[in-house]
Amino acid sequence: NRPALRDRFGRDIRYLRISVTDKCDLRCNYCMPKGFRDFTEPAEWLTYPEILRLTRVFAALGTRRVRITGGEPLTRKGLPQLIAGIRDIDGVEDISLSTNGTLLAPVAAELKAAGLHRLNVSLDSLDRACWAGITGADKLPHVLSGLAAAREAGLGPVKVNMVLLKDVNEHEIPAVVRYCFEHGYILRLIEEMPMGQTGAARGMATLETIRQQLVSEFGLVPVTRELGGGPARYWETPDGSNSLGFITPMSQHFCASCNRVRLASDGRLYLCLGQEHSADLRAPLRDGCSDAELTAIIRQAIELKPEKHEFREQPHQIIRFMSHTGG
Ligand code: GTP
Ligand code: 5AD
Ligand code: SF4
Repeated sequence: NRPALRDRFGRDIRYLRISVTDKCDLRCNYCMPKGFRDFTEPAEWLTYPEILRLTRVFAALGTRRVRITGGEPLTRKGLPQLIAGIRDIDGVEDISLSTNGTLLAPVAAELKAAGLHRLNVSLDSLDRACWAGITGADKLPHVLSGLAAAREAGLGPVKVNMVLLKDVNEHEIPAVVRYCFEHGYILRLIEEMPMGQTGAARGMATLETIRQQLVSEFGLVPVTRELGGGPARYWETPDGSNSLGFITPMSQHFCASCNRVRLASDGRLYLCLGQEHSADLRAPLRDGCSDAELTAIIRQAIELKPEKHEFREQPHQIIRFMSHTGG
């Protein structure tokens, strides 16, 4: 049992989120709205061998969980090969993927065979026109079949992410809860974070009142067992058959128990989603650094991990887009 990387606040870092591309086939208006900026070129991205090498170094430093994100990770070719490579790394116990689901149906079984354990799929609306309004594309049916394919492939429990967008999808929440309960997906409702000059302008909604309403409407009770490695807090129906999570970075942040760092597609290691502290790992990789040197650079970077985000205090501080750091 390898000791973990420990930060200045005593938090053990065992969860590495890897963004494999900043490209996406959608333009969700809270993440990377139309015309936001140019994507980086593939030459900027870490190659799969580079990602595997860094993941090995992180695993030797105690990383247990790896999540693949983007942009949209399924737009990058050969993703199952990367997953198979991560599966073979000693110490990695949990490999997951965050995806928008549009490209999922045809590859769900292949992802499972490559060693993916579980996945989280974005679904902000069940109304085709509303979904298209949020994402800029008419692909809701692709996502719904992707979800079904993931469940059939045994990639479970499948989680669904719904970002609460003030005056856009709030009214759909009970319908999405029912849909997820019926289909056996674990829904998580998420407070929107102000990144890259996107949602902040709309005004952020919090989940406090909505949670009270849903707890009472569905008779939910708090879940005490662990349901994933992330910041969600879960409730469930009394018979334990359906659960519902809440991710509340704005109204009740979870930074005291933060266990993660993020590797962006260009090889920059971000220490916090809501802060700019980072360290470049690509240059040392490409300059021929040894594993021991990379280990030292990572240890030094962990010292930069801040205590918490400041989305509330400084809502316009983070100008990089969510697609850059991968959610
Ligand atoms: P599990 O391991 O399944 O629990 O994954 P997760 O919930 O950590 O991952 P996912 O990619 O599905 O993220 C869900 C939401 O939580 C997204 O809106 C993320 O931006 C947000 N989130 C994940 N990790 C953090 C974090 O460390 N800080 C903040 N502020 N938000 C986070
Ligand atoms: N605030 C909260 N969640 C966000 N996501 C993307 N942008 C934001 C934001 N500004 C979510 C996506 C996806 C997850 C990885 O991050 O909806 O489900
Ligand atoms: Fe961790 Fe930063 Fe997220 Fe807080 S905002 S949970 S410190 S990554």
